[in-house]
Amino acid sequence: MTRTKPDGTTTDWQGVAARDLMSLGGRLALLERGEGSYVWDVEGTRYLDFLGGIAVNALGHAHPVFAETVARQAATLSHVSNYFATPQQLELAARLKQLAGTGEQGRVFLANSGTEANETAIKLARLHDRDGLIVSLEGAFHGRSTGALALTPKAAYQDPFRPLIPGVAHIAPTLDALEALFAGDQRVSALVVEPIQGEAGVLPLPDGYLRRARELTTAHGALLILDEVQTGMGRTGHWFAYQAEGIAPDAITLAKGIAAGFPLGALVTFGAASDLFYPGTHNSTFGGNPLASAVANAVIQEIEDRDLLANVTARGEELRAGVEGLPLVAGTRGAGLLIGIRLSAPVAAGVRAAAHARGLIVNAPTDDAIRIAPAYTIGDDEVAQFLEIFGEALAEVAATQNPETPA
Ligand SMILES: Cc1ncc(COP(=O)(O)O)c(C=O)c1O
Repeated sequence: MTRTKPDGTTTDWQGVAARDLMSLGGRLALLERGEGSYVWDVEGTRYLDFLGGIAVNALGHAHPVFAETVARQAATLSHVSNYFATPQQLELAARLKQLAGTGEQGRVFLANSGTEANETAIKLARLHDRDGLIVSLEGAFHGRSTGALALTPKAAYQDPFRPLIPGVAHIAPTLDALEALFAGDQRVSALVVEPIQGEAGVLPLPDGYLRRARELTTAHGALLILDEVQTGMGRTGHWFAYQAEGIAPDAITLAKGIAAGFPLGALVTFGAASDLFYPGTHNSTFGGNPLASAVANAVIQEIEDRDLLANVTARGEELRAGVEGLPLVAGTRGAGLLIGIRLSAPVAAGVRAAAHARGLIVNAPTDDAIRIAPAYTIGDDEVAQFLEIFGEALAEVAATQNPETPA
């Protein structure tokens, strides 16, 4: 693909990317600008962005609150190191405790990504019980660092990097496997689960799973740690997905939407799990810097001021109802604006590409599922445009599946 520069000459940007960037995939387009739910590539092609930087851009692109907060805080104080506290960091910790409902006893550690938040959670589990297993679920995605990767049981991701950290086990994401885990004589230090497995194609846990997991972990002295990196900060229509289940975990990990596009991650602890870390056991140079913290505070305030959680719920329902009956759609799953659209054939890659060619960004996490995670700010226009373009993309792929199907 070529890029036309202002002087009229062209560059092969994919060739340049292949030459200069680590060979790790990606590079679907050369994007240079965004506004609201739209992004533009260097050729001026507009895309309706229904992936939102993989469930990150909660306020869409170039939101004035985001842009003004970054500019103001950058011109005031952006980084001081973890030898110091800042008002922005203290405000964010208090907000997260309040939103998560930890009460007085909660504690917050601020990092820079979901992976780092999960590394912190792994260390929390070790501090809780060094001899117990850390257990995660098949299909989980918790990150790519060697610790978080050990909790991400996918051969293609893990095998090149073995040996991974020891003391980790995986169980099927079923109630039976959960019961069997705690019926056995293995000591469990922590159970780490995503309330909805985003990377596995937006797969919710079985009904009642989190409540039973809470009962069993409490009864066996294990921590219940929820990875809310993708589901948290309002994505499901609740501030955190566990709040729909009426339980309180021992810890949650957060990132993605927390600062709506500015790198930030967090571990929030509840109850006695808040007393496990002590000076010298963990830290981060950049984590909790005033710039990232100020952006997160402003994002949370904007979500509250505009009642965006209600919009997340309402638009999610509209989108799910809207895709039902489109060609190839076999059902939907997820919550709020984290939606998996199940396809009746393993053609998700083709659907994603057909959507892209029509100016719509969606993602195909598995062969038969399309994931959408648009901005919390979407309105009637974005929903209507999505349904129109997505319907056309599905019809095109359906026609190649079965030439009888009208395109
Ligand atoms: C549930 C979950 N946990 C952890 C991560 C890793 O987060 P990050 O890419 O910010 O390190 C992701 C990323 O997709 C995720 O979806």
